[in-house]
Amino acid sequence: MEERSPTTSDWAEVRGSEVHGRGMFAVKDIPEGEYIIEYLGERIDKEESDRRGNALYDESQETGGAQVYLFTLDENWDLDGNFDWNTARLVNHSCEPNCEAQIDDELRIWLTAIRDIERGEELSFNYGFGIEDYERHPCLCGSRKCVGYILSEDFWPELRRTIKKKKAKEERKAAKERARQRKKDKKKKNKFS
Ligand SMILES: C[S@@+](CC[C@H](N)C(=O)[O-])C[C@H]1O[C@@H](n2cnc3c(N)ncnc32)[C@H](O)[C@@H]1O
Ligand SMILES: [Zn+2]
Repeated sequence: MEERSPTTSDWAEVRGSEVHGRGMFAVKDIPEGEYIIEYLGERIDKEESDRRGNALYDESQETGGAQVYLFTLDENWDLDGNFDWNTARLVNHSCEPNCEAQIDDELRIWLTAIRDIERGEELSFNYGFGIEDYERHPCLCGSRKCVGYILSEDFWPELRRTIKKKKAKEERKAAKERARQRKKDKKKKNKFS
């Protein structure tokens, strides 16, 4: 693809983020419903998207990075936003986001305010990740609703069940270990008394 200069927005700018690396921040109050910045990229068919998705997945297995740049546009097309000039790719994930990615009639993606946003607030949207490998994507959004992982809200009930089951299993294991230790201590005590 040709070299392009990074996209800008009248509403937001790039700054260092406490959530992760760089993020985008509102430079003025943004009203709910406002289109803030276009999420640009290359439109690709499903076959190419699968190929790039698999390559990103392989890379993420090594680096721990996440494949966040591929968006589904419709049944035929996806958009790969993994380009330096796509400034909107820097928007971080939040479990309590103030934006969402909206697709318009021309299959263009816009980061849109889902509530009034105050000047200085960091912009965020839910990355919509699947639940497989969720542990590889811990979330540091810091919101009151944070579920601890970068995950689509559709999977939150499943995540809560999974975490509950895991915790119960760990507690059973710890109780077993404590019982085993008590037995061992008792045996030792009997031996010396
Ligand atoms: C597309 S980048 C977003 C911009 C990123 N902050 C940067 O400076 O490159 C996506 C990556 O940012 C990180 N990230 C985004 N939101 C996060 C969050 N809520 N908690 C932890 N890491 C996050 C993850 O490493 C994710 O793979
Ligand atoms: Zn979170």
